[in-house]
Amino acid sequence: ILSALGARSIVLVGMMGVGKSTIGRRLAARLGLRFLDADVEIEVAHAGMSIPEIFATHGEPYFRDGEARVIARLLEGGPVVLATGGGAFMREETRARIAAKAISIWLKADHDVIMRRVRRRADRPLLQTADPEGTVTRLLAQREPVYANADLTIASRDVPHDRIVEECIEAL
Ligand code: S3P
Repeated sequence: ILSALGARSIVLVGMMGVGKSTIGRRLAARLGLRFLDADVEIEVAHAGMSIPEIFATHGEPYFRDGEARVIARLLEGGPVVLATGGGAFMREETRARIAAKAISIWLKADHDVIMRRVRRRADRPLLQTADPEGTVTRLLAQREPVYANADLTIASRDVPHDRIVEECIEAL
């Protein structure tokens, strides 16, 4: 697999709560590649401000610009496994960069799985609304046709994470 990848990275895309960070970390370990999480790198680049703090202080457009720059920079180095935030792949320039430097994998989960997983964590500013459920429905409708441009699609569902990691490896 590594020789087939060449110098390309692996980039995980998909909605909040589909397991991009968890699966990405394990996939990287299996392949002996470095794992990077774009959300974490954005926080580091902002002197440790959390994503909700960045949204609250600077607003979403500012966050999106920073996110695009961070992802571009992370893809400049050697091959890595990179987990991206759920909105990153929506930007055309970011999709083009990912296509040039990496193989992309869409971790696809259905609405119920996403709702169950994001309910456990309060760190998604986009879901701090009166109707998080409706927001997920709306975001999925907007985003799924775009996520579908990823090179590979893997169903993220309630099976052990390692099984999904193996499916990613088989698909690569
Ligand atoms: C976002 C997803 C989050 C984070 C930010 C915005 C989105 O990342 O980047 O809260 O637009 O879907 P995760 O997908 O890792 O939760």
